[in-house]
Amino acid sequence: MTNQRRADGSLRHLVTLDGLSRTELESLLEQAQRFVRPYGAPAPADSALAGVTIANLFTEPSTRTRVSFELAGRRLGATVINIDPQLSSSAKGESMLDTVQTLESLHVDGFVIRTAEPGLIPYLAAHVGAHVSVFSGGEAHLSHPTQGLLDALTVRQRKGERLEQLSLAIMGDIRHSRVARSAASVFRELGIGELRLIAPAALLPSADEFPGARRYSSPEEGLRAADVVMTLRIQKERMAEAEIPDADAYFARFGLTAPRLRLARPDAIVLHPQPMNRGIEIASEVADGPQSAIRDQVRNGVAVRMAVLARLLQPRAAPA
Ligand code: NCD
Repeated sequence: MTNQRRADGSLRHLVTLDGLSRTELESLLEQAQRFVRPYGAPAPADSALAGVTIANLFTEPSTRTRVSFELAGRRLGATVINIDPQLSSSAKGESMLDTVQTLESLHVDGFVIRTAEPGLIPYLAAHVGAHVSVFSGGEAHLSHPTQGLLDALTVRQRKGERLEQLSLAIMGDIRHSRVARSAASVFRELGIGELRLIAPAALLPSADEFPGARRYSSPEEGLRAADVVMTLRIQKERMAEAEIPDADAYFARFGLTAPRLRLARPDAIVLHPQPMNRGIEIASEVADGPQSAIRDQVRNGVAVRMAVLARLLQPRAAPA
């Protein structure tokens, strides 16, 4: 497993949530909560990362994660640059490590990386200079740590800090989902009462993954009395053409519709990491309905990324 820590035990990289203790997770979530502002209020502004430079390097599409990492860095006073791999030397065959090392020479202190290649983010974390931090913005199907944290923050805001009584149902393409893996990791460590996985057999993960989770091939069974329902997009980009389910048949069987949501608790909340495919994994009336916490997830994404950047890059900041 990746060593994410400095010699003193503090976190240096955030590649995975595995190995973070409940105390560490709760402390990051509490710090994130301090950066949350009501809708319509001015964004938080801080100078904790004055003098720090952060580079976003995303080789898979992203709207929310990239933009919220960028805003998070700026709102902490850091300089943030976005590298477009299409326009940079990686289009000429330069390896990601060469790109990262070039940017290190330009005094970049932190890298936020999204990639479809499993293992690349831990590899880079192991090879950057000792003063540099690497943050995952999503690694293949494996992990998406800041998404896991923002999901946990959203559930805590809506349901309170004690998760022992809660049942979380994840529905959709779990097999190919880094969001589901990071959610399972953080909610397990925070002591969630129950984790259920609902998907057609072909989209359920292998039996050894998601220890302790209950598996369902029927939404009607899996959604019953759930407190939190997380729906996921079908990850077509991680499938062969022949594996991609027919959209209409999938919605009929596994779409989160209003009648299906009524099987969960009346006060259940709905999560979706976005981008949403309305009419495939979720009905519009659910996505936009009163039980949806999807917009809170987006807002919380900036707060969580501010907390993570501030915590890990603080040692690089110029003394006040
Ligand atoms: C997700 C991702 O890229 O893993 N999006 C996100 O970061 N919020 C989910 C997805 O693409 O389906």
